[in-house]
Amino acid sequence: MQRIALLTSGGDAPGMNACIRAVVRKAIYHGLEVIGIKRGFNGFMEADMGPMKLGSVADIVQRGGTILRTARSDQFLTSEGRAKAYENVKRFGIQGLIVIGGDGSFRGARSFNREYNLPVVGVPATIDNDIPGTEQTIGFDTAVNTAVEAINKIRDTATSHERAFIVEVMGRQSGFIALAAGLAGGAESILIPERPFNYDEICEKLLQGFRRGKLHSIIVVAEGASGGLEVGRKIKERTGFDTKVTILGHLQRGGSPSAADRILASRLGAGAVDLLIKGATKMMVGVVSGDIASINLDDALAQTRSIDLEMYSLAGILSF
Ligand code: F6P
Repeated sequence: MQRIALLTSGGDAPGMNACIRAVVRKAIYHGLEVIGIKRGFNGFMEADMGPMKLGSVADIVQRGGTILRTARSDQFLTSEGRAKAYENVKRFGIQGLIVIGGDGSFRGARSFNREYNLPVVGVPATIDNDIPGTEQTIGFDTAVNTAVEAINKIRDTATSHERAFIVEVMGRQSGFIALAAGLAGGAESILIPERPFNYDEICEKLLQGFRRGKLHSIIVVAEGASGGLEVGRKIKERTGFDTKVTILGHLQRGGSPSAADRILASRLGAGAVDLLIKGATKMMVGVVSGDIASINLDDALAQTRSIDLEMYSLAGILSF
């Protein structure tokens, strides 16, 4: 293998740049040439790509976002789109592809591998942390810290005004951010798509807390569980509390990556290069029990990552 390409795809995640840096520098260390593809699979189809050198990735380890930019590409989901990309594989002499992104991006990479046999390695990067085959995805730690910082600030206001606050965090289909941020932020209730919830119970707990002299109440809601505004409205209706809703939204995707995310991204990026060099054809790199591991993309995509139920019930016990 002489020349590999890399791209970032799907929602950006803090640490993607650290991962790009690791891929480029580890590949060059092993004597490979690296092509950086811009704007995810869109740039792959449109030949928006060029060589990357050691200096191309200087001063980015600490930066949020992705210098290669990213996209959610509908066109790459079509065989016509992938055929266009294959023309560029031939034109640029690409012999292996590293895709830094989430499960949607990995599905695109897998289809491409099936059709054109190009070796592909996925690097899990999404704030959602919802990828099987790895204990953590790039960006999750930073996003959780961002959410916890926001909850800390909201708690000050909640206490001063004796109000109930609803904080909506990201996670379209998963409650990993909500659970981690809710536990770390001392939330009274955590609403996630993976677990059923009951408004009567939530409100009763809230009322009990205030009767006991609690000065505030914070309810963390994953966007996939229910809209924060809806939760605020229902709680107000049932309790008469002055509920305030904060939707953290894309705040959680930006910002300088935490040290943990930079380290994870560096290890996973380097691990992806090693996999390609060893002849992997369709794999994902991950971390299992603290070690770099790999899993076949088919297996990763066939599974669903479940939340830690013990952690969920612990958060419930500690929140009374
Ligand atoms: O997958 C990451 C994520 O931030 C989800 O938590 C969120 O639902 C989604 O992306 C938002 O996507 P977009 O930025 O395309 O609206």
